[in-house]
Amino acid sequence: MLNRNKNIANLASGYLFPEVAKRRRLYAAAHPEANIISLGIGNTTEPLTPHIVEGLKAEVVRLGTPEGYSGYGDETGLTALRAKISEVLYKGIVSLEEVFISDGAKCDIGRLQYLFGSDVSVAVQDPAYPVYVDGSVMVGAAGSVPAGATGYKGITYMPCTTENGFFPNLSAIPRNSLVYFCSPNNPTGAVATRDQLASLVKAVRAKDSVILYDSAYASYIRDPELPLSIFEIEGARECAIEISSFSKPIGFTGVRLGWTVVPKELAFADGTPVITDWTRLMTTIFNGASNIAQAGGLASLDEQGIRETRELTDYYLENAKLIRNALNGENFRKAGVEVYGGDNAPYVWTRFPGRKSWEIFDLILDTCHVVCTPGAGFGPAGESFIRFSSFGHRSQVEEACRRLSKLVL
Ligand code: MLT
Repeated sequence: MLNRNKNIANLASGYLFPEVAKRRRLYAAAHPEANIISLGIGNTTEPLTPHIVEGLKAEVVRLGTPEGYSGYGDETGLTALRAKISEVLYKGIVSLEEVFISDGAKCDIGRLQYLFGSDVSVAVQDPAYPVYVDGSVMVGAAGSVPAGATGYKGITYMPCTTENGFFPNLSAIPRNSLVYFCSPNNPTGAVATRDQLASLVKAVRAKDSVILYDSAYASYIRDPELPLSIFEIEGARECAIEISSFSKPIGFTGVRLGWTVVPKELAFADGTPVITDWTRLMTTIFNGASNIAQAGGLASLDEQGIRETRELTDYYLENAKLIRNALNGENFRKAGVEVYGGDNAPYVWTRFPGRKSWEIFDLILDTCHVVCTPGAGFGPAGESFIRFSSFGHRSQVEEACRRLSKLVL
């Protein structure tokens, strides 16, 4: 038989969210009477908004006509959508040729890991969205030593803690590395300031490294001082790639649509532009995002679509506020619980000093019948934290908050 891929065999545990889902299933099977509410995975819950539905429908109708039918499209995406993203979301600071449409940010991260291969060092914020680390392990970029309690030996974890305001010490960045950076951050909810991002760009350039900047939650930023894109920062075009998504702004978690920006200036050590290899890779192993999904994405970027996106993200931000308020209640304060995030991000990051994440996860599931995500699942520095997602129906979020306010810690 074939040998098992040793990189995949190197993975320390199952992917975080299926693990959370498994525990929920086991609990539900043992307690069929429990009405479980999920504030765990960041999965959108509210219906698609009317104008975006019209955009999707119109494309379906068009595809059902002889004149309107089209098969494969351009692997890099509809020109109209690339242009609209460049104009509306980036105000022209990136060109349409630099925008690559895809089936989502997570898939693009996987393809970028494939693009850079195993010959790079990897640095991540700790805690981090698990795909950065697990995907790096899968392509062999995390070294051959499996994870211990402090993570994979081949990955540089840059702790983002309450002490450093969830912004890492950049001196830890290795030379020639891929530096994963997510803002607004999943899971901490922290948003990097302009000055912080300027220092990141400077540090990364000094180490001949590249930032993979995940802006999947940028549509949740309300503070006008906070940057929406790494490309607002001088020098970023020489050292950064940005990955983003329609999932969280317009509820396309199931429809699937995202994009990646690769600036023309970014080059490998031998001078080859990264955009050349990225185009080659995308046109070889990706067949383009769904034309229907792209029509929906396009609708979301006109005036009415932008209004609807704002209303939808406001709804989840209001949920985040309710969750934060509940977690600031007396029972939590007395136990020394600290609450972060949730104002320019859909995640609330909560610290339970001296307790273990999975222990708190079990306690909340068992006594409140609420599913959250244990911080330890996002990396060693996530221990003692719990992440609450604000993606949920309002009535469910309110009920979860009522139950949380009665939690005995
Ligand atoms: C999360 O819960 O961290 C994310 O929603 C999962 C994802 O986007 O893949």
